[in-house]
Amino acid sequence: MSIIEARGLSKSFMQAVKEPGLGGAVKHLFVPKHIEKVAVKPLNLSVEAGETVAYVGPNGAGKSTTIKMLTGILMPSAGSISVNGINPYKKRMENAAQIGAVFGQRTQLWWDIPIVESFSLLKDIYQIPGPVYKANLEQFTELLGMNEFIHLSARKLSLGQRMRADLAAALLHNPPILYLDEPTIGLDVSVKQKIREFIKKINQEQMTTIMLTTHDLGDIEDLCRRLIIIDHGSIIYDGSLSEVKSRFARDRVIFFQVGAPMPELISELSQTPRMKLELQNDQEFSISFDRYEYTASEVVSQVMKHGEVIDFRMEDANIEQVIKAVYDGNLNLNQDGK
Ligand SMILES: Nc1ncnc2c1ncn2[C@@H]1O[C@H](COP(=O)(O)OP(=O)(O)O)[C@@H](O)[C@H]1O
Ligand SMILES: [Mg+2]
Repeated sequence: MSIIEARGLSKSFMQAVKEPGLGGAVKHLFVPKHIEKVAVKPLNLSVEAGETVAYVGPNGAGKSTTIKMLTGILMPSAGSISVNGINPYKKRMENAAQIGAVFGQRTQLWWDIPIVESFSLLKDIYQIPGPVYKANLEQFTELLGMNEFIHLSARKLSLGQRMRADLAAALLHNPPILYLDEPTIGLDVSVKQKIREFIKKINQEQMTTIMLTTHDLGDIEDLCRRLIIIDHGSIIYDGSLSEVKSRFARDRVIFFQVGAPMPELISELSQTPRMKLELQNDQEFSISFDRYEYTASEVVSQVMKHGEVIDFRMEDANIEQVIKAVYDGNLNLNQDGK
């Protein structure tokens, strides 16, 4: 059985509808009107132990709602969830012992006490054995560079410091499952990098199952093998990241460095459909092309007809175009990319 199993899982919220203005507000007070908002439509999900899953979709798609149900914070409207054999909502304490969760939008740490004291409270709450706690604290402090702020209260930390502390807090008890909801939101590149490396290491060394929601394509490429796309509460894609790239990323890019400017090539390409030239300077440019129309060797030979090619490199298909197409509603996921 999979470590995370959800069947027919769904969630609806009652949302208040107020008419505009003071009159509307007063009316709502006496005769409240509500509509049912379906945040997550019945969905099935199975995640195997050790998997790294990116759970992505536009704002309001239902990502956080799903994660909250899986972590036991929210009660599902319908369906079943089993996480390591436990129903997370019914057995919240047991479930807490086997998961770590980080929500980028808010901290799990105590606001007014030093980080290291928060950690030590977690040691007691989770009954982490002394040697395990000590080893983890040392390793996490080192890997996440927490020395400079571990004695400060959460209130005093920058966002990047707080996220590192939150991540460490979520993993002190060595949970087999880690949920991350927008963990790198608003962070600068160097902190993002540190966090990604840390997560990768935890996944590799401890086989921690990771489910990550993010808008950061770098997070996905760097961390996840599997991609699940949710839109309007329904899963519209579930498969490997490499497959989605090879199936749906139509455009390829080749970067060229050439011996001399190639004006004829420029005018030739301006008339070639589904091929686009972008000049860095006279002797360096990139050509993006539709890989269903042209092969890479056709593109390279076309350039070579016009002079000497000193160097070229091909850029891998990029997940960015795929996700963007999904968000824009331009991707028919049932077809073979054509
Ligand atoms: N507590 C709530 N009460 C009412 N509606 C909610 C609540 N939480 C989320 N929603 C609605 O459910 C939908 C999905 O929200 P959410 O899961 O937070 O999306 P995402 O994390 O993908 O951006 C949104 O339309 C949101 O407005
Ligand atoms: Mg969210």
